[in-house]
Amino acid sequence: MQTATISFDRFNVLADAQAQERIRAARAKLGDRAVLLCHHYQRADVYQHADLTGDSLKLAKLASQTDAEYIVFCGVHFMAEVADILSKPEQIAILPDLAAGCSMADMASLAKVERCWRELAEVLGKPDELITPVTYINSAADLKAFCGEHGGIVCTSTNAPTILDWAFAQREKVLFFPDQHLGRWTGYKKGIPLEQMVVWDPDLEHGGLSPEQIRSAKILLWKGHCSVHQMFQESHIRRWRMQHPEGIVISHPESNLDVCINSDYVGSTEYIINTIKAGAANTRWLVGTELNLVSRLADEMKPEGKIVEFMAPTVCMCSTMQRIDPQHLAWTLENLAEGKVVNPIRVPAHEATLARLALERMLAVS
Ligand code: 13P
Ligand code: SF4
Repeated sequence: MQTATISFDRFNVLADAQAQERIRAARAKLGDRAVLLCHHYQRADVYQHADLTGDSLKLAKLASQTDAEYIVFCGVHFMAEVADILSKPEQIAILPDLAAGCSMADMASLAKVERCWRELAEVLGKPDELITPVTYINSAADLKAFCGEHGGIVCTSTNAPTILDWAFAQREKVLFFPDQHLGRWTGYKKGIPLEQMVVWDPDLEHGGLSPEQIRSAKILLWKGHCSVHQMFQESHIRRWRMQHPEGIVISHPESNLDVCINSDYVGSTEYIINTIKAGAANTRWLVGTELNLVSRLADEMKPEGKIVEFMAPTVCMCSTMQRIDPQHLAWTLENLAEGKVVNPIRVPAHEATLARLALERMLAVS
């Protein structure tokens, strides 16, 4: 049985330099028993310790491939859940601060999606025969399980176009949650008319839609969004292009449709990084995604004469991911080095089985 863990109170007071030192010491003690997976939005003072980095799709694959005893996930809660679901039973996924959630993921709950499904049944008859539920990976495990149970699938910002094709090959309509913007952009690129992509407001009866709107819809878009990417506006791009007509604009598909349409490139965090790195020297870029990633890229690209600028005039960070700081990381790793597990993420078995089904469908298709 595990003895008492070391309290976080002793780490909360550490200066950053001390926390860094203790991270390094604990990692040396742990060796390859722990692997540190880091999302690209992670703050620099944590990102520097990453063994492996990636977007959500890459991190999900890496979590399923590692043999490390402990998967320390520097990201947000749904990512650590995916790591738990896809890793081996004896491995333990850990989130250094349990408060690192995703505000978009919180915009859809199982109760609301199940109510939506019942209300769709009232209008359409049997939703399981007509609608493929597609959940963005930015969602809780029980919603992935819902998709697993109802013949649905998970998607990421990288594979959403392929997943949408798969979803329509199964049934004639798609219920896409929780990010309306990724769903709309992906449908738009496939030529689905905007009027056939209707927004389902989970706080209104029948999503606030008439039976006719529901019957004629191809995609029902859940009314959810990312608080960071909603800050980017088409006007930011327009003003920047007036000053820099030669500049290149690249955005994450969680941005609104106008931003995506007016960008030269749209894709996941990994895609954004790779595209700018592969770009010609002395080019100028405007980037619509989270600030930690953009600031890091701006520094890395300077030697090649590339100028990388942030799209919004205000600071937009993923404040929840930001909660994973050196103090929490040091606390997590020192406990592990002492054989004590803090903040394990364990998805209940019945939920994990169905969620794995939806995730494995995704991995097989993409
Ligand atoms: P990526 O999968 O593109 O890294 O996106 C994850 C995310 O949460 C973006 O806000
Ligand atoms: Fe969630 Fe937005 Fe943060 Fe991505 S940037 S993890 S969608 S809150």
